[in-house]
Amino acid sequence: MKFFVDTAEIDQIAELNDLGMVDGVTTNPSLIKKSGRDILGVTKEICALVSGPVSAEVTATQADDMIAEGRKLGQIADNIAVKVPLTWDGLKACKTLRDEGLMVNVTLCFSANQALLAAKAGASFISPFIGRLDDINLDGMSLIEDIRIIYDNYGFETEILAASIRTVNHVLDSARIGADVITAPPNVIKSLASHPLTEKGLAAFLADIEQTGQKIL
Ligand code: E4P
Repeated sequence: MKFFVDTAEIDQIAELNDLGMVDGVTTNPSLIKKSGRDILGVTKEICALVSGPVSAEVTATQADDMIAEGRKLGQIADNIAVKVPLTWDGLKACKTLRDEGLMVNVTLCFSANQALLAAKAGASFISPFIGRLDDINLDGMSLIEDIRIIYDNYGFETEILAASIRTVNHVLDSARIGADVITAPPNVIKSLASHPLTEKGLAAFLADIEQTGQKIL
């Protein structure tokens, strides 16, 4: 399973990238706002840092305008994936930008039927938002399951990019179901390493070796 990091914070991307944990990056307008950076400048920096796909989202709502924005974003670097919303206009933009050879990530997906349309429009990635469905008491993970079944039934090549990941269990369940990619904030990716028994066991080992008075260096 590929790990994308869901942030526009350069230092956090760099830290995870140095460990080989970053197969790509996703941004959105809210993450750009949070970073306090200019969208074109920060996206260019991220693209230079990581070799995998870097999603940068259009802000227009009409297909022609989305296509123009997508073309401009696509000029930033070869590893740009243009992010378009799952609207009818977004699907039109997806088809055109894909025909022109750009990667496209169709975002804000909340139903399996939406995901089916994105695949038919040739999307490189579909981004179902798990956390936002859970927020309104729906089951985000069952959406990932449904999309996996549908894409496998028909051999669609669109990659399932499980998004709006808030917890380590979202990562585990996405991996079990067979999502191709997860995108998660840096703190969620780092917390995958945490386990209370690891901490407890380490504390006991360190206490025991200290009592022996031994040192390796
Ligand atoms: C995905 O591409 C989105 O940027 C992101 O996962 C949204 O997450 P949120 O619902 O926590 O804002």
